[in-house]
Order: sequence, then structure tokens, then C-alpha cells
Amino acid sequence: MKIYVTEDYQAMSRKAANILSAQVILKPTSVLGLATGSTPVGMYKQLITWYEKGDLDFSQVKTVNLDEYVGLEPTHEQSYRRFMQVNFFDHININPANTNVPDGLAADPAGECAWYNEVIRKMGGVDLQVLGMGRNGHIGFNEPGNAFELETHVVDLTESTIEANARFFSSRDEVPRQAMTMGIKSIMMARKILLMVSGEDKADAVKAAFTGPVTPQVPASILQLHPYVTLVADKAAMSKMEA
Ligand code: GLP
Repeated sequence: MKIYVTEDYQAMSRKAANILSAQVILKPTSVLGLATGSTPVGMYKQLITWYEKGDLDFSQVKTVNLDEYVGLEPTHEQSYRRFMQVNFFDHININPANTNVPDGLAADPAGECAWYNEVIRKMGGVDLQVLGMGRNGHIGFNEPGNAFELETHVVDLTESTIEANARFFSSRDEVPRQAMTMGIKSIMMARKILLMVSGEDKADAVKAAFTGPVTPQVPASILQLHPYVTLVADKAAMSKMEA
């Protein structure tokens, strides 16, 4: 595993944007696995800036997002589809038909997940998967205790995740209780993984994921077994790792 420790959130974002840019420049037809949450917002901003300067071309890139809330329409303020439009897709020259996010309103969420797995397979798999991490070590919406061997599936969100994500909704009651997420198996099938972590409130999760045992109790710990992981974390997130 390659580890880059940066001074702060901004530097983390820039480093991650560098890695993603290199991927797109070296392989313009890349399939990117993308993540939502507050962590990657700065990276998307940086990529947009470089795109506007003419340094990046996303016209042949395909994307597949990690997850989506069950029950939220694509235009809902807090849907991950909308997040991706507002924070990234609307500002670059990506073909909308090449962007994939599970449909939160699918009548049959399990069927939607099966279809999503097919989409990923037909694109030839993910070249670079971007990940953030929850405070309990979750990746995508793979919560502690979820089986490692699943591809895209429906999950019940844990109380701690509902709590953590409540800040984005007007009340805690509005946070969906379920989500569709690429599973650990889907994530591990990506050729390369870029994990971004920022802030002291993630320091325990970073320590558990990378110095503890590989266990479904800490979903991100599985990344210890992936052959090509780059961790880009700021000092605060690394503060509990031994020097
Ligand atoms: C959500 C998302 C994850 C994300 C995590 C951390 O639960 N499903 O993909 O990594 O939150 O979010 P943040 O980056 O806002 O801390």
C-alpha cells in the first residue's frame, strides 16, 4: 500500500486529484468508481479547476458510483445522483450516458443491484475506485458486520451512519434507513483503489483498518488484502497511527 500523508484537507484533495488525473490522462477510456460524502468534495473541485484550464478530458471516461439511498429520487437534494451532478458531472465534459448511480426509486432495489453488477461487468470492471471511509470504518455503505463476499446489494444503515449523515438532512427522521451499495467484493475487484481520509474523527477508523485484523467489523480493513491501494490522508486522520 502506498501512503501519502498531507498537511491538511486541501492538500489531501489536491493529491487525490493528481492520482485521478494521472489515471484519466494515461487511460482516457478509464472506468472510475466514484464516492460521495464530504471527503471527496475538494478533490472534485480541484479536478473541475484543471478541466477548466484545459488539462483534463473526461469525454471518454465512464463512471460508476458506490452507492445511493433507497427511496430518494435522483433530483432529491440529498440523493447521491444529485451530489454527483452538482459537485462534479455538471462541470465537466463527461457524457451523461456514461455516468452510473443506482436508482434510488427502483421498484425492486434488489433487482436494481443485480442490474448494476451487470453494468459494471459490461464496462470491463473499475480501473480506479475512489473511497471515503465512515467513522466506524465503513466503505460505500458496507457497514460493520456486512459479509465481505457481496457485490451490489441493499443494506440497512446503522444508527451511527444515520446519525453521521443526519447533518445533511433537515431532520434525523428524514435520513433513509436503507441504501444500495457496491459490496466489498465489488470494491475489491477494482484494479486500483484510492482511499481518502481527513480529520481527527476518522483517526480511530484509520488505525483499526490498517493496523488491526482484517474483519467484517471494520469493513475498510479488507483493503489490507488489495494489491493496489493508495491511502491519501491528512495528518489529523493519521494521528493515531504509530510513527
Ligand atoms: C457515507 C457514504 C460513504 C462515505 C462516508 C463518509 O456514508 N456512503 O461513501 O465514505 O459517508 O462520509 P464523509 O466523507 O462525509 O465523512
